[in-house]
Amino acid sequence: MPQHPIPLTQPTLDEEEERAVLRVLRSRWVTQGPEIRAFEEQFACAIGTSHAIAVANGTLALEIAYAASGLGPGDEVLLPAITFVACWNAVLRAGAVPVLADVQGLGDLTLSPASVESLITERTRLVITMPHGGFPPDMQAFEELSRRRGVTIIEDACHAPLAELNGRRIGSFGLAGTWSFYGNKNMTTGEGGMITTNDAAFAEKCRLLRSHGLTSGTWQRETGEGPALYDVLQTGTNARMDELRAAIGLVQLEKLPSATAARRRNAEHLRELLAPLGDRGLEIPYVHHRGTSAHHLFCVLLPPDAEREAVMSRLREEGIQTSVHYRPIYEFSAARGIHDEEEMRRRLPVTAKVAPRLLTLPLGPRQTAEDNERIAEALGRALG
Ligand SMILES: Cc1ncc(COP(=O)(O)O)c(C=O)c1O
Repeated sequence: MPQHPIPLTQPTLDEEEERAVLRVLRSRWVTQGPEIRAFEEQFACAIGTSHAIAVANGTLALEIAYAASGLGPGDEVLLPAITFVACWNAVLRAGAVPVLADVQGLGDLTLSPASVESLITERTRLVITMPHGGFPPDMQAFEELSRRRGVTIIEDACHAPLAELNGRRIGSFGLAGTWSFYGNKNMTTGEGGMITTNDAAFAEKCRLLRSHGLTSGTWQRETGEGPALYDVLQTGTNARMDELRAAIGLVQLEKLPSATAARRRNAEHLRELLAPLGDRGLEIPYVHHRGTSAHHLFCVLLPPDAEREAVMSRLREEGIQTSVHYRPIYEFSAARGIHDEEEMRRRLPVTAKVAPRLLTLPLGPRQTAEDNERIAEALGRALG
């Protein structure tokens, strides 16, 4: 009997989300209104920040957070070479200069504070941390660096809702946390994003940038909450989320603790099942990691002599989807002329070493023990 495909992850969307969407449709108010407000309040509460600003996606969350932090042409932004390219694109779209930094080591693919410190210049404005796969970066070291060297930290926190470090949630450490609720994230609204912050003035700037710099939206004017005539305080864009997505987000947020616990159980099971492959050179990062993880991804390092694309296609033949999070940014065609690949490999030795070995295996809250066994057995066969 053919076996069912095992996707990289599956969203936990059920009848509750369907009911939430219907509720909004039947209310006839589909653009920014009470659902957005409730979603923002509850998300801020979950992350432990005083403000949350819902936006259309995680990329716009980054662009708005950068702009609201005052980033401008010529400023330098330090970011990990191993991250999603949105983080880098948003730097360039602000007219700023992306500077790639190294990750910590084979067992920890989060940004290295030592590498960041060695690359700080007087033009450095922002440092973007990323909880790779859901695992907290060394935020204590980055907070200390921020105080000592005067750089601002923004957390591209997309991988790590509910992850904690020293009793604080990821996304509450820097000036801002930016979030994506894309379909493959631990919680999804289809497309969607959020900015979290404890800084009231920064939150206000984000709100203005999200909606054309307007002093009040249609809902505020309609309900009398805001002035009948709006003023435009600055240039902005339309980066708003809608009510349908916010209603889905509220349900997803409620499910997040149990979905994260299921992810953790599956990650632990996969770890156990894959341990024997250590003899063949397979390494599993984040064994003794700081804080608690959101278990967004299950990444492994293939044996140094393994051919990654051949392994991926063997797994695909067995119905198992894999991916790579991420190829270093300096390898992409769009980075030519911005980063010199040879120089990057020399400057970022850990990235250069881990990058060709990285592979992401399926991990989702609804993955079964049998799925985990199939993944481990198939990887064993693929490694020969
Ligand atoms: C680390 C990281 N940053 C930024 C983004 C961009 O988010 P979005 O796809 O919602 O624009 C994503 C997700 O896709 C991501 O994983």
